[in-house]
Amino acid sequence: MILMSEIKPYRDSSAGKKEQIATMFDRIAPKYDFLNHTLSFGIDKLWRRKAIRLISSDSPETILDVATGTGDFAIAALKTGAKKITGIDISKEMIAFGVEKIKALGLEDKIELLAGDSEAIQFPDKSFDAATVAFGVRNFENLGRGLDELFRVLKQGGTLCVLEFSKPRNALVKFGYKFYSNSLVPWIGRLVSGDRSAYTYLPESVEGFPDGVKFITFMGQSGFVQIREYRLTFGIATIYIGKKGKG
Ligand SMILES: C[S@@+](CC[C@H](N)C(=O)[O-])C[C@H]1O[C@@H](n2cnc3c(N)ncnc32)[C@H](O)[C@@H]1O
Repeated sequence: MILMSEIKPYRDSSAGKKEQIATMFDRIAPKYDFLNHTLSFGIDKLWRRKAIRLISSDSPETILDVATGTGDFAIAALKTGAKKITGIDISKEMIAFGVEKIKALGLEDKIELLAGDSEAIQFPDKSFDAATVAFGVRNFENLGRGLDELFRVLKQGGTLCVLEFSKPRNALVKFGYKFYSNSLVPWIGRLVSGDRSAYTYLPESVEGFPDGVKFITFMGQSGFVQIREYRLTFGIATIYIGKKGKG
């Protein structure tokens, strides 16, 4: 079995996964938003909106968006009516682009983006009503530790919402998706971002990610309850929602 921590962007580097991930996102940050929306044909925006709709009924006042990148999920989370959204990420360049975006939108009073590691979150226990992660958990070096940390910083009764790529089950969709993600995505990604490995790592990390029931098991092991799963667009992505029990 290949561990997630072994699926790294740069095969010829001896650096650990976390360091490699930070380097990779620092490199692709200038082109990240463009590539993200182009390669997904804009569907990623619909997925984010759906995830946010699903947690809006909880009316969270404070949200932590982990692996926030350039802040798209944090911005989408405003729709919940939250008073304050805090985003953290290990890539300083991704954060820098996100901060500029938030300034341009005049949202500095609502959204704050900071450097921070999902596996050692800098906030005290029980700080947030909800936590969100979009396309981030797949990149964690230690998934269990990241989920434990998300659990720790949530208030009792708080909600975790994870949006992540998953593996489609239908044979025909699987075939088309594999061709697209293993051939076209690395080629376009390399051409636009200039990083040879980043968009080869993308399909490899999706393949190696414990999606579906396996991810639900990880969430359960970290203490989450009432876990629900919503498969999106033939299972290309999945939303997982869980609660920190009232205790
Ligand atoms: C694919 S991007 C997703 C960004 C954003 N959430 C979105 O929806 O566009 C993944 C992000 O996860 C961040 N990341 C990976 N491991 C992390 C960790 N241990 N702690 C914090 N951020 C992490 C990366 O730096 C990167 O910005």
